[in-house]
Amino acid sequence: MGNFGLSAKVDVIAPSASLQVAQRALELKRLGKDIINLSIGEPDFNVPVPIKEGLYQALENNYTHYTESQGVLDLRKELAKELGHDIEADQIILCSGCKLGIYLALETILNPGDEVILLEPAWVSYKHMITIAHGKSVSVKTNEKNNFIPTIEDIKKAITDKTKAIIINNPNNPSGQLMPKEILDEIVQLAKEKNLFIISDEIYSDIVYEKESFYSMLNYDYEKIIITSGFSKNFAMTGLRLGYIVAKKEIAKAINKLHQHIGTCAPSIAQYGIMGKISDVLKNDVEDMRKTYEKRRQILIDGLKETIFPYIIPQATFYMLLNISKLNMKSLEASKYILEECGVATVPGIAFGESIDDYVRISFATSDEMLLKAIQRFKNINI
Ligand SMILES: Cc1ncc(COP(=O)(O)O)c(C=O)c1O
Repeated sequence: MGNFGLSAKVDVIAPSASLQVAQRALELKRLGKDIINLSIGEPDFNVPVPIKEGLYQALENNYTHYTESQGVLDLRKELAKELGHDIEADQIILCSGCKLGIYLALETILNPGDEVILLEPAWVSYKHMITIAHGKSVSVKTNEKNNFIPTIEDIKKAITDKTKAIIINNPNNPSGQLMPKEILDEIVQLAKEKNLFIISDEIYSDIVYEKESFYSMLNYDYEKIIITSGFSKNFAMTGLRLGYIVAKKEIAKAINKLHQHIGTCAPSIAQYGIMGKISDVLKNDVEDMRKTYEKRRQILIDGLKETIFPYIIPQATFYMLLNISKLNMKSLEASKYILEECGVATVPGIAFGESIDDYVRISFATSDEMLLKAIQRFKNINI
């Protein structure tokens, strides 16, 4: 490798464990092996028809120019109404995906050396974004016994005088678990006492199977809560890059200062494409997709019983954690083994923190046929 004098922060970002498995899956596929990809992190559905029509119309209307940096005002008003809780349009910033929203939030609140608490399992990008923003991530471990929900005592232990924020991912990728209201109450109380920010990533909030158990951070009026979400997962439009941030006006204004220089605006076509359609698409198309995921979840619940993999039933998302301890391997090795033995690609739990090194993540954003085929292959594992 040449010495190009790249930044130290890029050097410390390790290649992801999941990419190692994905790379090998690609090699095996090229060799003609029949690989079932259960490592996917996006819906297998196409964008709903009403949105497709909106996108064509947006192009026809030449809505291809920059928009207001914070997002088209009428769309922000529509979204504010949909979110409820008296959210106002100027509390919302539309940006190129939820991921950018999280990064902008971190860059807005962190000074060098500030600590951010991550609750395991923690989505792979959080810790890297914190590093890029010159912060330090501090992980709080969880376990299956507690449904991968952290205890408030463990969170308290992780707080130092450098702690600036806590990131919550509710519903959680990869566990599919929902944070109970009681722990959210305690976290908000703690954040108030310690003057901490809360970044709540709620990107999977419309893919929930136990709707009464989902409690959004929108319910709290603590001023240092920043919510990030978007339309990638619920509207099956990952490549159209439309996410959003909700925060108190002053914070939203500060975040948008960065957004102006880093992102300019969210894609105009995506913004105009969904405009006027959010409520109906949520009621109809998103609900249909959710029901399909729910049926697939049931296929896994029924079929996996006869395999060597106990599993965690997800309350939300299209992910499921399989316990791989019977293989007597840690997750990266197990993921590689499952790929070579069964031709099934999974994501090693270690990608989400040490607490989940006895698990691999599978995704049910794929057809019933593929799920049944994968289950059959798992049944044939001999240990
Ligand atoms: C927990 C979580 N947050 C954020 C994102 C990113 O979403 P987007 O595609 O809107 O940037 C993902 C995508 O996998 C995710 O799983």
